[in-house]
Amino acid sequence: MRTPSAPSPSSLPELTREAIAAVDASGQLSDILGLPDHLRDALWRVESANLEFQDAPGGLVVAGMGGSAIGGELALAVLGDRASRPIVVARDYALPPWITPDATVLCCSYSGDTEETLAAFEAAGVLGARRIVSTTGGALAQMARAERVPVVPLPGGFQPRAAVGYALVVALEVAALAGVGERLLYEIDVAAAHAEELVAQWGPDAPEDSAAKALARDLHGTTPQIAGAGLTAPIAYRWKTQINENAKMPCFATELPELDHNEIVGWESAGELGRFSAVFLDDCDLHPRVRQRIALTRELVAEQAAATALVQSIGSTRTDRLVSLILLGDLVSLYLAALRDVDPATIASIDRLKSSLARL
Ligand code: PA5
Repeated sequence: MRTPSAPSPSSLPELTREAIAAVDASGQLSDILGLPDHLRDALWRVESANLEFQDAPGGLVVAGMGGSAIGGELALAVLGDRASRPIVVARDYALPPWITPDATVLCCSYSGDTEETLAAFEAAGVLGARRIVSTTGGALAQMARAERVPVVPLPGGFQPRAAVGYALVVALEVAALAGVGERLLYEIDVAAAHAEELVAQWGPDAPEDSAAKALARDLHGTTPQIAGAGLTAPIAYRWKTQINENAKMPCFATELPELDHNEIVGWESAGELGRFSAVFLDDCDLHPRVRQRIALTRELVAEQAAATALVQSIGSTRTDRLVSLILLGDLVSLYLAALRDVDPATIASIDRLKSSLARL
């Protein structure tokens, strides 16, 4: 169901390279399309950091915020039941109170200047846990150097969220080096090669009715809710954050089967309150009952939604399928920015908040 005031997807401008370049002065599109290279380069960067294997019975903590924290969530999803110990993502100034000194703490901050991550780095030091840092520089690199903590050096010049390939691979490799999960070199290689093909299918030179462009048109003018489950739950969160930051739109992430126990009731009045859309991220490895729930939930929500979509992950391995959906979501968010005529790079509200905090 579409409300009459909705811009019809076919009346929206074409998503050509030229149309995207008109809003994308800093080249966010090419950073998104560079995902296959980022995955491979990240492996090389971890290798060159010469990190030693050190068994961590206490598991792995990935400490970071925003675009730097997501790699931990994605690594946890990729490993699935191949993780032999807990993996926890700590998005705060402190570490969870039950973390023990025999854990490994990976502190990720693209800029190296995020105050929550700096505090978590110090907290891990006080605890006496093994620390590893992943950053381009900033205060975090300085503190790591001063305390002889190894650093995986990230390449500069990206928005933190565009370095998602690096964040994922560094977290996976550190998990293996802590004895928390198996090493996934082959899966990462396959995912990078497959992502190259998907870039051609969904990128700016693909037809206007290709998957990413068509979905962006459907979501334009709506408040999307992205639903995931299992492997796709953190990907739904990634889509939300990319749509928030690149397209400057409200967007929410949710998870099945939980949403069937509460949010589904809220949808009963969605049509009265605004133009909401729902995207369901499916994966062949989800619990069969969850897959049935996705189909039924979509049907119910469609009665009130401006648009709904069911999106399948594509690929042979968990890493491959996760990367396929990351790429698709990143492109959808970039195309939404172009349709909305906004620069995908700017994050004015985050910048304002950080400078207000700095004055306190
Ligand atoms: O995407 C972004 O720019 C943010 O979500 C940042 O990742 C977040 O503010 C943390 O910054 P950093 O990644 O530099 O630690």
